[in-house]
This record gives sequence, C-alpha cells and structure tokens, in this order.
Amino acid sequence: MKNPTNSRQDIFIAGTETSAATVIWAMTYLMKNPKKLRKAQKEVRQAIEKKRFVKEEDIEQLPYLKAVVKETMRLQPAAPLLLPRESSQDCDFDGHKIPAKTTVYVDAWAIGRDPEVWGENPEEFKPERFRKKSIDLKGVDFGMIPFGAGRRMCPGINMGLVIVELSLANLLYAFNWEMPLGTKSEDLDMEALPGITMHKKNALCLMARKYVCE
Ligand code: HEM
Repeated sequence: MKNPTNSRQDIFIAGTETSAATVIWAMTYLMKNPKKLRKAQKEVRQAIEKKRFVKEEDIEQLPYLKAVVKETMRLQPAAPLLLPRESSQDCDFDGHKIPAKTTVYVDAWAIGRDPEVWGENPEEFKPERFRKKSIDLKGVDFGMIPFGAGRRMCPGINMGLVIVELSLANLLYAFNWEMPLGTKSEDLDMEALPGITMHKKNALCLMARKYVCE
C-alpha cells in the first residue's frame, strides 16, 4: 500500500506545479498580446472597481478571463502527455495493434492544436474562439483535455481552475505589467522544459507597477 505521506506529497505537487505553470503561461501569452492583456484587465477592473481583491464569487463575472485561461490550457496543457496508462488487454486502436501491458501516452498538447478541431491557425492565442465554441474541460469534449479524461482524470479540476483564474485575475487587477527595460514582448519565447509538468524553460521576468483604482 502507498505511504500516506507520499500520497499527500503527490497531491501537493499535482496541485501546485500545474497551477503555477498555467498562470505563468497565461501571463506570457498576454504579454505577447498586449490588446488581449488590456481587454482582460479592463474586464476585471470594471467588475471589481474599488473592492481591491478578486474573490472566488467574482469569477463568474469575468467571461474573458475564463476564456484566457481555457485558451492557455488548450495551447500549453500543464501535463502535455497526461499521466501514462497501461493497456490491460490486447486491443486495436484505429488499425494500430496495442498489446496488453503497453505504456500508452495521450498527447493532450497535440490534441489542443489539431486543425481539424480548431480550424485555421490553431497555434494562435485567441481567447475569443471560446465565445462561439462552448467547450467543457471536464473530459467530455475531446478537442482539449488539459485535465485528462475518464476514470483517472484530474480529481482536482475544480480547485485547479479556481486557483488559476483567481491568481490571474488578481495579478491583472492589482498591477500594470511591463517588460523590463531593454526587452520587448516580441522577444518572449515559448520554450518549455521536458517533464510531466510543462514549465516555461526561461523564467518570465516582468515589471509590476501597482494599479491604484481612482
Ligand atoms: C491547473 C491545474 C491542474 C491541471 C492542469 C491538472 C492536470 C492534471 C492531469 C492532466 C492529470 C492526469 C489525468 C489523466 O491522465 O487523465 C492530473 C492528475 C491528477 N491531479 Fe491534477 N491538475 C491540476 C490541479 C490539481 C489540483 C489542484 C489537485 C489536487 C489538489 C490535483 C490532483 C491530481 C491528482 C491526485 C492526480 C492523479 C489522479 C490519478 O492518477 O487518479 N490536480 N491532473
């Protein structure tokens, strides 16, 4: 039986690494797309006004921010190959013979960029695509599965989504973001480190200026 300390550690790592990586990718995309950054900031500042802090109950008033999070998870799913599975018996998948006891990976990263599902320019960061396309992240719509699907999908999906949405909303509400002197947002790269969780290879360095609501 698994040691309970290890299980607690697994849950801690599964919950923090993934959420932190997603917030950093979202900020990277927004910095590379200043109009979308301003649009998300405008939405959150108009909704929150002088309340000084975005709370969980405010999130439903932020459809664009939610779309930014979805779009980030489509393009940079925190666990790009989900968790490995093992086939329990011989099977035939779309003409491919998979013997029993084979380790199988599902490429959630490639699924989220499939032009057959996402149309032209699937690589483009475009939160607006979720205005027309209602897509669920709970492993029902196979066009994007950042939390996996089926019996072993992420049990922390609700908490994970709220952590990412709340952190991002507060970062956008409370600060104006700029590139450090001598650097340009066009130079930001999207290189990722290999690993179960896909972290940004080069640290995202930004300058934060406190926003004061008048
Ligand atoms: C943005 C946040 C998160 C993302 C993107 C994410 C994504 C994932 C993915 C893709 C899997 C593998 C699912 C599969 O193979 O089908 C997974 C598994 C798991 N996640 Fe999350 N997760 C997040 C947050 C959390 C949180 C907050 C917790 C707990 C507090 C958590 C706990 C777990 C656990 C325990 C598993 C293993 C489930 C199993 O093997 O049965 N995750 N997660």
